[in-house]
Amino acid sequence: MKKRIAILISGRGSNMEAIVRNVQAGMLQDCCTVEIVLSNKRDACGLEVARLLGIDTAVIESKGKKKAEFETEVLALLEEKHIDYIVLAGFMRILSPRIVSRYRKRIINIHPADTARFKGLGAYEWAFGKGLQSTKITVHYVDEGVDTGPVIAQKEVDFTGATTLEEVEQRGLKVEHEFYSRVLKQVVTAHNGVER
Ligand code: GAR
Repeated sequence: MKKRIAILISGRGSNMEAIVRNVQAGMLQDCCTVEIVLSNKRDACGLEVARLLGIDTAVIESKGKKKAEFETEVLALLEEKHIDYIVLAGFMRILSPRIVSRYRKRIINIHPADTARFKGLGAYEWAFGKGLQSTKITVHYVDEGVDTGPVIAQKEVDFTGATTLEEVEQRGLKVEHEFYSRVLKQVVTAHNGVER
Protein backbone atom coordinates (compact mmCIF):
# COMPACT_ATOMS: atom_id res chain seq x y z
CA MET A 1 0.00 0.00 0.00
CA LYS A 2 1.21 3.48 -0.82
CA LYS A 3 2.03 5.62 2.19
CA ARG A 4 0.05 8.79 2.66
CA ILE A 5 2.27 11.75 3.35
CA ALA A 6 1.68 15.31 4.52
CA ILE A 7 4.35 17.86 3.68
CA LEU A 8 4.69 20.74 6.13
CA ILE A 9 6.21 24.00 4.90
CA SER A 10 6.65 27.59 6.06
CA GLY A 11 8.15 29.29 3.01
CA ARG A 12 9.60 28.72 -0.42
CA GLY A 13 8.86 25.03 -0.62
CA SER A 14 11.56 23.92 -3.05
CA ASN A 15 12.06 20.61 -1.22
CA MET A 16 8.30 20.09 -1.18
CA GLU A 17 8.19 20.70 -4.93
CA ALA A 18 10.95 18.17 -5.57
CA ILE A 19 9.13 15.55 -3.49
CA VAL A 20 5.78 16.21 -5.18
CA ARG A 21 7.39 15.86 -8.61
CA ASN A 22 8.96 12.58 -7.55
CA VAL A 23 5.60 11.34 -6.29
CA GLN A 24 3.86 12.36 -9.48
CA ALA A 25 6.40 11.03 -11.96
CA GLY A 26 9.59 9.87 -10.33
CA MET A 27 11.20 7.69 -7.71
CA LEU A 28 8.32 8.02 -5.21
CA GLN A 29 5.56 7.18 -7.65
CA ASP A 30 5.13 3.61 -6.47
CA CYS A 31 5.29 4.18 -2.73
CA CYS A 32 3.74 7.52 -1.70
CA THR A 33 0.85 9.87 -2.19
CA VAL A 34 0.92 13.51 -1.11
CA GLU A 35 -2.38 14.01 0.68
CA ILE A 36 -1.80 17.59 1.76
CA VAL A 37 0.73 20.40 1.79
CA LEU A 38 0.23 22.28 5.03
CA SER A 39 1.70 25.67 5.86
CA ASN A 40 1.69 27.48 9.18
CA LYS A 41 2.03 30.73 7.20
CA ARG A 42 -0.62 32.06 4.87
CA ASP A 43 1.90 33.82 2.63
CA ALA A 44 4.26 30.84 2.13
CA CYS A 45 5.27 30.87 -1.56
CA GLY A 46 5.27 27.08 -1.62
CA LEU A 47 1.47 26.99 -1.29
CA GLU A 48 1.00 28.35 -4.81
CA VAL A 49 3.64 25.96 -6.13
CA ALA A 50 1.73 23.03 -4.60
CA ARG A 51 -1.61 24.24 -5.98
CA LEU A 52 -0.15 24.56 -9.46
CA LEU A 53 1.01 20.96 -9.16
CA GLY A 54 -2.56 19.95 -8.32
CA ILE A 55 -1.92 19.17 -4.66
CA ASP A 56 -4.42 20.02 -1.90
CA THR A 57 -3.14 22.70 0.43
CA ALA A 58 -4.12 23.89 3.88
CA VAL A 59 -3.10 26.80 6.05
CA ILE A 60 -3.21 26.57 9.81
CA GLU A 61 -1.71 29.78 11.05
CA SER A 62 0.53 29.46 14.08
CA LYS A 63 0.89 33.20 14.67
CA GLY A 64 -1.27 34.67 17.39
CA LYS A 65 -2.36 31.26 18.58
CA LYS A 66 -1.38 29.11 21.54
CA LYS A 67 0.89 26.24 20.52
CA ALA A 68 -1.57 23.68 21.92
CA GLU A 69 -4.41 25.17 19.90
CA PHE A 70 -2.32 25.21 16.71
CA GLU A 71 -1.30 21.59 17.20
CA THR A 72 -4.85 20.45 17.96
CA GLU A 73 -5.84 21.77 14.54
CA VAL A 74 -2.81 20.19 12.88
CA LEU A 75 -3.51 16.80 14.50
CA ALA A 76 -7.15 16.93 13.44
CA LEU A 77 -6.14 17.53 9.83
CA LEU A 78 -3.49 14.76 9.88
CA GLU A 79 -6.02 12.33 11.30
CA GLU A 80 -8.75 13.32 8.87
CA LYS A 81 -6.32 12.66 6.00
CA HIS A 82 -5.09 9.35 7.50
CA ILE A 83 -1.49 10.48 7.25
CA ASP A 84 1.23 7.85 7.62
CA TYR A 85 4.29 10.13 7.40
CA ILE A 86 4.81 13.82 8.17
CA VAL A 87 7.53 15.28 5.99
CA LEU A 88 8.98 18.59 7.17
CA ALA A 89 10.36 20.71 4.34
CA GLY A 90 11.45 24.10 5.58
CA PHE A 91 8.82 23.98 8.34
CA MET A 92 9.95 26.50 10.92
CA ARG A 93 8.01 25.41 13.99
CA ILE A 94 9.09 23.03 16.71
CA LEU A 95 6.56 20.24 17.14
CA SER A 96 5.66 19.46 20.72
CA PRO A 97 5.96 16.01 22.37
CA ARG A 98 2.24 15.56 21.81
CA ILE A 99 2.66 15.31 18.02
CA VAL A 100 6.13 13.75 18.15
CA SER A 101 5.00 10.87 20.33
CA ARG A 102 1.86 10.31 18.28
CA TYR A 103 3.93 10.01 15.08
CA ARG A 104 7.16 8.59 16.51
CA LYS A 105 9.59 7.63 13.70
CA ARG A 106 7.02 8.89 11.23
CA ILE A 107 8.10 12.55 11.20
CA ILE A 108 11.06 13.24 8.97
CA ASN A 109 13.10 16.39 8.48
CA ILE A 110 15.89 17.60 6.25
CA HIS A 111 18.60 19.78 7.74
CA PRO A 112 21.30 21.38 5.59
CA ALA A 113 24.21 20.49 7.89
CA ASP A 114 25.52 17.65 9.99
CA THR A 115 23.14 17.91 12.98
CA ALA A 116 26.01 16.86 15.26
CA ARG A 117 27.87 20.02 14.24
CA PHE A 118 25.18 22.63 13.65
CA LYS A 119 21.55 22.75 14.77
CA GLY A 120 18.83 25.30 14.09
CA LEU A 121 18.44 27.91 11.40
CA GLY A 122 21.09 29.33 9.08
CA ALA A 123 23.16 26.24 8.33
CA TYR A 124 24.37 27.46 4.95
CA GLU A 125 25.34 30.83 6.46
CA TRP A 126 27.25 28.93 9.14
CA ALA A 127 29.08 26.77 6.57
CA PHE A 128 29.90 29.76 4.38
CA GLY A 129 30.97 31.91 7.33
CA LYS A 130 33.33 29.20 8.53
CA GLY A 131 34.72 28.72 5.04
CA LEU A 132 33.87 25.01 5.08
CA GLN A 133 34.87 23.10 1.96
CA SER A 134 31.94 20.74 2.39
CA THR A 135 28.95 20.06 4.56
CA LYS A 136 26.68 17.12 5.23
CA ILE A 137 22.99 17.30 4.42
CA THR A 138 21.12 15.32 7.08
CA VAL A 139 17.76 13.58 6.90
CA HIS A 140 16.59 12.59 10.35
CA TYR A 141 13.61 11.49 12.38
CA VAL A 142 12.14 14.26 14.48
CA ASP A 143 12.23 13.84 18.23
CA GLU A 144 11.39 16.24 21.05
CA GLY A 145 14.54 18.35 20.58
CA VAL A 146 15.66 20.75 17.86
CA ASP A 147 17.54 18.79 15.18
CA THR A 148 18.42 16.10 17.71
CA GLY A 149 16.50 13.13 16.29
CA PRO A 150 18.07 9.90 15.01
CA VAL A 151 19.95 10.40 11.75
CA ILE A 152 18.61 8.33 8.86
CA ALA A 153 21.16 9.32 6.22
CA GLN A 154 23.68 12.02 5.35
CA LYS A 155 25.14 13.20 2.08
CA GLU A 156 28.16 15.36 1.57
CA VAL A 157 28.05 18.50 -0.54
CA ASP A 158 31.27 19.87 -1.96
CA PHE A 159 31.71 23.64 -1.68
CA THR A 160 35.19 23.81 -3.18
CA GLY A 161 35.52 26.95 -5.28
CA ALA A 162 32.20 28.42 -4.12
CA THR A 163 32.76 32.11 -3.42
CA THR A 164 29.31 33.34 -2.43
CA LEU A 165 26.63 32.27 0.02
CA GLU A 166 24.21 31.97 -2.91
CA GLU A 167 26.48 29.46 -4.60
CA VAL A 168 26.88 27.46 -1.39
CA GLU A 169 23.10 27.37 -0.93
CA GLN A 170 22.48 26.52 -4.57
CA ARG A 171 24.86 23.56 -4.43
CA GLY A 172 23.31 22.39 -1.18
CA LEU A 173 19.72 22.66 -2.38
CA LYS A 174 20.52 20.73 -5.54
CA VAL A 175 21.65 17.84 -3.36
CA GLU A 176 18.73 18.24 -0.92
CA HIS A 177 16.18 17.99 -3.73
CA GLU A 178 17.41 14.60 -4.90
CA PHE A 179 18.56 13.20 -1.57
CA TYR A 180 15.37 13.87 0.41
CA SER A 181 13.20 11.83 -1.97
CA ARG A 182 15.75 9.04 -2.08
CA VAL A 183 15.81 8.75 1.71
CA LEU A 184 12.02 9.01 1.96
CA LYS A 185 11.74 6.12 -0.42
CA GLN A 186 14.02 4.05 1.80
CA VAL A 187 12.04 4.93 4.90
CA VAL A 188 8.57 4.27 3.57
CA THR A 189 9.48 1.08 1.76
CA ALA A 190 11.37 -0.31 4.76
CA HIS A 191 8.26 0.21 6.88
CA ASN A 192 5.91 -1.23 4.28
CA GLY A 193 3.84 -4.08 5.58
CA VAL A 194 4.81 -3.43 9.17
CA GLU A 195 1.70 -3.23 11.32
CA ARG A 196 1.63 -0.37 13.78
C1 GAR B 1 16.15 24.00 3.20
O1 GAR B 1 17.49 24.31 2.94
C2 GAR B 1 16.03 23.07 4.40
O2 GAR B 1 17.06 22.12 4.46
C3 GAR B 1 16.15 24.08 5.52
O3 GAR B 1 15.36 25.16 5.11
C4 GAR B 1 15.39 25.25 3.69
C5 GAR B 1 13.96 25.25 3.19
O4 GAR B 1 13.93 25.50 1.81
N1 GAR B 1 15.72 23.53 6.78
C6 GAR B 1 16.31 23.83 7.94
O5 GAR B 1 17.21 24.64 8.06
C7 GAR B 1 15.75 23.08 9.15
N2 GAR B 1 16.57 23.28 10.29
P1 GAR B 1 12.66 25.11 0.94
O6 GAR B 1 11.46 25.78 1.62
O7 GAR B 1 12.92 25.72 -0.40
O8 GAR B 1 12.54 23.62 0.92
